[in-house]
Amino acid sequence: MSNSALKFVEVAHQLDCGDSVFPAVICNEQQLSTLEQCEQWIRENKQQLEDKLKESGAILFRGFPLNSAETFDQFSNAFDYPNFTYKESLSNAVRINFTKRVFTANEAPKDVEIYLHHEMAQTPISPSKIFFFCKSSADEGGATPLCRSDKLFEALQERSPALAADFENKGLKYTTQMPLLDDHDSGQGRSWKSTLSVETKMQAESKLLELGYSWEWKDDDSLRATTPCLPAVVKLSNQKKVFYNQLIAAYMGWKGVKEDPSSAITFGDGSHIPASGLEMVASLAAQFTFDLPWQDGDLALVDNYMTMHGRKPFAGERKRQVLVALAMD
Ligand SMILES: [Fe+2]
Repeated sequence: MSNSALKFVEVAHQLDCGDSVFPAVICNEQQLSTLEQCEQWIRENKQQLEDKLKESGAILFRGFPLNSAETFDQFSNAFDYPNFTYKESLSNAVRINFTKRVFTANEAPKDVEIYLHHEMAQTPISPSKIFFFCKSSADEGGATPLCRSDKLFEALQERSPALAADFENKGLKYTTQMPLLDDHDSGQGRSWKSTLSVETKMQAESKLLELGYSWEWKDDDSLRATTPCLPAVVKLSNQKKVFYNQLIAAYMGWKGVKEDPSSAITFGDGSHIPASGLEMVASLAAQFTFDLPWQDGDLALVDNYMTMHGRKPFAGERKRQVLVALAMD
């Protein structure tokens, strides 16, 4: 296997991004039937897989013998990327851990759409790669939209060079509200204790100080925290610029942000981001987005710098279970 080129297949609605097809799709044509065979196949072909990931931004693996959190853990572990744990992250989504590496993608109710974002780009610490695994797909809906951020930023530079330059030069600050207790009805309901891995307000403050945040305690013991200036645009090692942030998710999906964007997102110098610019970015993104229609057993490896993801609402009796493992390399 190691000497032959990997064969990528076509699926409906893939995007032609000029330099690559998005996402890349690979089927288990070798009929690898055990996890040991899969692990060996990954190790033998790792360089080719990594090259493809860099070029395309995401790879879908279909037809591999995966059916549980444990098999997903083992398959993703074969790539040998250092683990990025949910516990250590500053993610504000409520999640449930299955194994040390594997947790639920987001516990938000099924009618809630999670809009496009780079995982944890609204915090100073974010993973470089994301593995998604579909343990069970929804009866209806529930696709994971994937969007090429390099293409989005190119399009933004063409459409509005001044706004693109502002994002690139000024960066961003995010303000989030963290409740005292986990709120399972919200897409961002993780408590401050869990988010910051602390028990007391004093410990929370010292963690926030260390991370460069400013903050304010509310009467209901929730915490309103503002990040230090974070980049809105990142230059990758191949010189491509990516729109690396959570602006679309924040503007479209965070509570009250559409009405008043400055309540949650500003440029890094504290100045307002025009709502018209945010609308433009959100609508431009649709052109570079592929809705991944999950089949049971599918696994997707996503480059978190190049590709944004989200979650479409879903319906029906069947429990949609998409699990996640994060890596930092
Ligand atoms: Fe996410």
